[in-house]
Parts: sequence; structure tokens; C-alpha cells
Amino acid sequence: MTVVDTFQRPLRNLRLSVTDRCNLRCAYCMPEEEYAWLPRASILDFEEVARLVTAFTALGVDKVRITGGEPLLRRELATLVRLLAANPKITDLALTTNGVLLDAQASELRAAGLGRVTVSLDTLKPEVFRELARRDDLERVKAGIRAAKAAGFPSLKLDAVILRGTNDGELCDLLEYARGVGAELRYIEYMDVGGATRWSQEHVVSRAEMLARIADRYGAIEPLREASSAPAERFRLKDGTVFGIIASTTAPFCGSCDRSRLTADGMWYRCLYATRGTNLREALRSGLSEEQLNELIGSTWRVRTDRGAEERLAAHERGALAPRETLAQDPHLEMHTRGG
Ligand code: GTP
Ligand code: 5AD
Ligand code: SF4
Repeated sequence: MTVVDTFQRPLRNLRLSVTDRCNLRCAYCMPEEEYAWLPRASILDFEEVARLVTAFTALGVDKVRITGGEPLLRRELATLVRLLAANPKITDLALTTNGVLLDAQASELRAAGLGRVTVSLDTLKPEVFRELARRDDLERVKAGIRAAKAAGFPSLKLDAVILRGTNDGELCDLLEYARGVGAELRYIEYMDVGGATRWSQEHVVSRAEMLARIADRYGAIEPLREASSAPAERFRLKDGTVFGIIASTTAPFCGSCDRSRLTADGMWYRCLYATRGTNLREALRSGLSEEQLNELIGSTWRVRTDRGAEERLAAHERGALAPRETLAQDPHLEMHTRGG
């Protein structure tokens, strides 16, 4: 059974954040010095996560993406992958990582049943990496990307958030690098999500500008026509190289959005921008039956009206979504808690 929301959007794509911790401090996500972390006792154990995922898959979810924070910081992650891979309703099991710890874990995760990996890679310059992520880990990320390739994942994507004045001079270098390692690059517009407290319109490089700059170098770009609810639009260069652009800021795709997010402590959000979520941890720990849990999730999805990115686009004075003080009081609004 697949439940649909008020706009007929199905519940299909679940993003599972397994930790709110991260080992990088990317300027577009975690620019502050201090963060309020989720209390340890509130973090779901793998058995609890698997029970919730079973409820979601009973209602239509067939795509699951493991995120964080940085998911590879979660101890024994392969054990969770194994539990999820055993759920026959999940046809697409993927992971988004910053790649720092991937070298050590790629083959174990592949063997556990992980289907796809996406690695964030915003720059190829060590000094820019250091400035952008406040750690000196570019070489480890590249080693992680090579390890993912060697582990035999059939699909490997590289995600680059483009910030004007930081890495917008590297559009073509990133594309060449991705081609060289046999990965598909996606450029991501800088979004005004919670966590991006330094966001401003001037730092956004739009899809239109990215395409113009890439065409300057490589000539005509052909858009690939695809029916899909995925946020990336794909394009092809004359030499056959395919890349994607995720234009969440200037051209949101809420109309076909089938995704929702579960935080590491079991809060469920029906939109990246939602300020209120559903506490599934409490529901689970209070002893709801499987049927009651399904009913709670299904009825919550049926009344969904969210289209956060479209509303942000329509807003006049656009600035950061939430001030630092608000985020400190409710870390659930942070992108690193909610899953990037
Ligand atoms: P594929 O299944 O590989 O297409 O995955 P994906 O594109 O959903 O996954 P990924 O984690 O790589 O997401 C890439 C980026 O798209 C995220 O980091 C966000 O910047 C953006 N994004 C992902 N989910 C959402 C969403 O629900 N809403 C909006 N507005 N942007 C999103
Ligand atoms: N804008 C766009 N994408 C973001 N991410 C985190 N913060 C932002 C933001 N402000 C996404 C990126 C990154 C992943 C970890 O989270 O895709 O690669
Ligand atoms: Fe979906 Fe909300 Fe993102 Fe729009 S902003 S695509 S409704 S998660």
C-alpha cells in the first residue's frame, strides 16, 4: 500500500540520519564553533531504526538513503546496512557521506548490501578544502572515492555545493575529476536550509549561470529528458559526459517531492524546511503495536501540505532560515541533524 499526501505525492523516499555528529565543518552546513548535540539516550538503536523502517516500507517507501551528520561516524554501520538490505521492499539502498572515513569502510559496506554511494566533494584544492571544511582531509576524501570505486558500487555520485567566491572557479575541474574516477558529478545550488546561517543570495550560483559557464568551456549542453522525482536534472556534453544540477534554490521541485527524513533520535520531518516533526521515538518506546505505528505514519503523511523550498522562493526578503540562537535551542532544525 502506498499512501499519498494532499498533493498526491507518494511516501517513497526515506532519508535516515544515523548521527548528528560530523568530522568536517563545512561553511554551508556547520559554520559555527559550538553545537548542541542530541542526547545519547535519545539516539535510536539499530533494532529501533529497523522497526521504524519496516513501518515505512509497509506504507510505500522503497528508497532509503543513510545520511548524517556523517553516517560513517556511527559505530557498526554495516550492521544497520545488513538489517536494511534484508528488507525486500527496499529496492534502492544508498549512503551520502563526506568520504573522510570511506577508505576504511567501503568494501565492508558493499559486502553488507549497500547499493549506492554519494560522496560530497566541493573542491580539489587543499587550501580551499581547509577553508571550506575547516579540516585538512582532501586526500582522505579522494582515497575514499577511490575505495568506493574499487569496492564495486555500480553507481558513484559526487555532490558539490557551489559557493560564489569559494569554489565557483572549479566547475570544470570538478567535472574532469569526476570523469577521471568514473563518477557522476552533481552541482548543488547553495540552499538557505537550517544550519546555513551565513547564507545570502549573493553566494548562490544559479543553475543558469553554471550551465552558461560549463557551455563556455565545452560547447552545447543537451538536457536529458527523464521522468523522475529525483532532485537532480541531468545534462550531457558533446563528448558524452553526463552531470547533474540540483537547483533547489532557484527552481525547487516540491511538486514531485516524495521524500521525508528521520533524525537519529527518531523525529520524522515531512520536509527539509519543516519546523515541526513527529516524535516516532516516543511512539516506538511507548509500546505502540506495528499496526498503530503504521496508522500514525500513514495518517501524518496523508495530511502533508509541505512545499518548503517553493515557499522560500516566493518569500521576499530572503536570508538565512533561522538565526544561530534558534538553532542552538532546537538542533532538529539543523541540516546536519536532519540529513544533508
Ligand atoms: P539520488 O537518489 O541519487 O538522486 O539521491 P539524492 O539526489 O536524493 O541524494 P543526495 O543525498 O545526494 O542529495 C543531494 C542534495 O540534494 C542534498 O544534499 C540537498 O542539497 C538536495 N536535496 C536532497 N533532498 C532534498 C529535499 O528533500 N529537498 C530539497 N529542496 N533539496 C534536497
Ligand atoms: N545547501 C545545499 N546543500 C547542502 N548540504 C548541506 N547543507 C547544504 C546547503 N546549505 C548538502 C550537500 C552536502 C550534503 C552533506 O548536504 O549536498 O554535500
Ligand atoms: Fe520536498 Fe520540502 Fe525539499 Fe520541497 S523543500 S523538495 S517539499 S523536502
